[in-house]
Amino acid sequence: MKRRWFIASTVAVALATVGLTTACGGDQTAGGGDAGGTLTMATSADYPPYEFIETAGGTEEIVGFDIDIARHIATELGYELEITNMDFNGLIPALQAGRADFVMAGMTPTEERRQNVDFSEVYYEARQTIVFPTGGGITSPADLEGKTVGVQLGSIQEGLGQDLAETVPGMTLQSLNRINEIIQELNSGRIDAAIIEDTVAEGFLANNPNLEAVEIPEEGPAGSAIAFPRGSELVEDFNRVLAEMESSGLMEELIVRWFGDGAQ
Ligand code: ARG
Repeated sequence: MKRRWFIASTVAVALATVGLTTACGGDQTAGGGDAGGTLTMATSADYPPYEFIETAGGTEEIVGFDIDIARHIATELGYELEITNMDFNGLIPALQAGRADFVMAGMTPTEERRQNVDFSEVYYEARQTIVFPTGGGITSPADLEGKTVGVQLGSIQEGLGQDLAETVPGMTLQSLNRINEIIQELNSGRIDAAIIEDTVAEGFLANNPNLEAVEIPEEGPAGSAIAFPRGSELVEDFNRVLAEMESSGLMEELIVRWFGDGAQ
């Protein structure tokens, strides 16, 4: 039975602060079955516009495309929502350890990850880009020859970078925990380029006019899906609400809100 009395405003976006919040206790993890209670979502809030920390009026709140989707789904299914922030690399281990009921982090459902977690349907497609200081003259991955390239630890961009490094002479990879650090390293010249997904790169470019980006031609899966512990009964419920969001136009509305009119 659905408990629908949790209205949107009561959905608690608990801890926006960076750090280790302990997720909810065992009886409420990997939920499903009867709705009610709290769902804990883990994310890596370094990824605007998917999820990032907004500091306004002295408070810190995690906001973004994924957060709006998660809030909507939780409300529809009659749960409260708690959000916990961690490094991207820690998200799948958190699911495996039962410290979160689901992950939304612009995460791509790769075959490798499917060995360890279950995924919802893909809710947004993306592409990869190479970001580099303006005038760097990079037009394709071959131009990464001899360059140090930053990627996020544990991301598909890291995997892509590893593949490229096998064929591009002298290219070295530098894996960092947070996208902000990658941008800082680029700005200080400690790395020459970075591989970052298109919409996320765009946001950083808008704030860093000294950087530019070029798209990498089709390189495997890049879309985002919601991740769950293996065998979670939530997958079906989440997929149902995602499908409803597609057909009602709500998903499109959120895409326009967070990615702008030009988005697919
Ligand atoms: N889509 C990429 C992946 O799954 C990158 C996601 C990074 N997300 C984040 N919140 N930092 O590996």
